[in-house]
Amino acid sequence: MSTLTRNDVTGRIMVALDYANAESAEGLLKQLEGIPCYVKVGMQLFYAAGPTFVASLKDRGYKVFLDVKMHDIPNTVKGGAESVTRLGVDVFNVHAAGGKYMMEAALEGVDKGLALGAARPIVIGVTQLTSTSQQVLNDEIGLAGTTEQAVIRYARLAHAAGLNGVVASPLEVTAIKAACGDGFVTVTPGIRPAGADIGDQSRIMTPAEAFAQGTDYVVIGRPITGAADPRAAIEAIIDSIV
Ligand code: C5P
Repeated sequence: MSTLTRNDVTGRIMVALDYANAESAEGLLKQLEGIPCYVKVGMQLFYAAGPTFVASLKDRGYKVFLDVKMHDIPNTVKGGAESVTRLGVDVFNVHAAGGKYMMEAALEGVDKGLALGAARPIVIGVTQLTSTSQQVLNDEIGLAGTTEQAVIRYARLAHAAGLNGVVASPLEVTAIKAACGDGFVTVTPGIRPAGADIGDQSRIMTPAEAFAQGTDYVVIGRPITGAADPRAAIEAIIDSIV
């Protein structure tokens, strides 16, 4: 049980539209019609349906997280950030591994792309993907220490660069807030309702546990999009939190 209202919780659920084309994504949106959740457009859908689809979501009043995880030289990221800001997305992200200068360049791109009077997008840094286990971090990526240490280092860097928050696992929310302050936004994928298929995720929590950690937004894909009845699935997730 929590003090959050149903509407509070719903507005903090970002549904991952991981689809191959706009038609499939529209099919899900139709099933979720009237539920005021955020929608997340990731690389699969953005590469297929592009800015036109995002603009149409914005025209229909959706809050949009564009999850394109920019990671390139600062000048290129600055240009990318300018373009997605012009699109009017509410949230977008860059990899903290690109370094402080690259993240600062993203914010300069936002300044350039922001229309007069328009709301500034929330810019967040990707710390370590929620699919990354301790073993992958140490043996494949080559970073020593625990996953939490790596996440906190990136969170501090993103904070120092002036970003609004980070993407991380709900397991790391408490430590991130302690390091960077309560106002530093956490967006947490790696969400699995009790008994759900884990898939390729690694550092997971249930939706209710994630909210209990104080996360600002949860990102949920397959537990909703892969359900026989997606509307019933998101309703059950909301019921499990409020
Ligand atoms: O289907 P599932 O709930 O695992 O989807 C999680 C979504 O969150 C996917 O769209 C994935 O790309 C995204 N994501 C993630 N880990 C991050 C950043 C984004 O899983 N660190």
